[in-house]
Amino acid sequence: MTKTKNRGKFITLEGMDGAGKSTHIPNIIAALKRHHIEVVSTREPGGTRLGEELRALLLFESMHPETETLLMFAARREHIATVIEPALERGAYVLSDRFTDATYAYQSSAKGVAKVKIKQLEKWVQGSLQPDLTLLFDVPVEVSLKRLADAREPDKFEREDARFFEKLRDAYLSRAAENPTRFRVIDANQALEKVKSEVNVKLEEFFATI
Ligand code: TYD
Repeated sequence: MTKTKNRGKFITLEGMDGAGKSTHIPNIIAALKRHHIEVVSTREPGGTRLGEELRALLLFESMHPETETLLMFAARREHIATVIEPALERGAYVLSDRFTDATYAYQSSAKGVAKVKIKQLEKWVQGSLQPDLTLLFDVPVEVSLKRLADAREPDKFEREDARFFEKLRDAYLSRAAENPTRFRVIDANQALEKVKSEVNVKLEEFFATI
């Protein structure tokens, strides 16, 4: 009984490559800590030793989109079992840089894997686990592509063309529209300080609801 009452919250960050979500992680951790919350900061694919090994394959090896989907969920199963669930159980907050919304956007909408297959894997791997809050960092495709062009050596997803990025953006915005309670869309096409304050406002709004 008390276990459920004290369960932590699960927060995920999403957006296309180049939307800048990862830049905001330190600020988000600081905001949660101001509420005296223990935070476990993690990422997908990855978050475990096995998951990080799978990440290296997923980001740089070309493979069938369904193989990619299965490996994403294999990494996710390990992540949930060994990191996410134990942390939530003890009352910590989990902040994950990407989760299953990315599989719907990248593997399904952009790469064509049937949504129904992802839904089945989601149910199997996650049971009833869903993020409590998802911050979606949204930018126009051309902004994202420009940021990536100026950045480090791209992984295979970052080498995709504008059409792929358009599909990602549409997929993310549709998921946000379908799940308005869970999602908060951040306009990430603004000066960094403005994005940061928008993130802080949205986090405080979330705290007001719990
Ligand atoms: P990303 O989170 O953008 O990390 P970095 O900022 O270090 O580049 O990279 C992870 C990549 O993995 C990203 O391009 C999206 C992709 N991805 C999927 O295709 N499906 C998934 O389910 C997840 C979690 C990520």
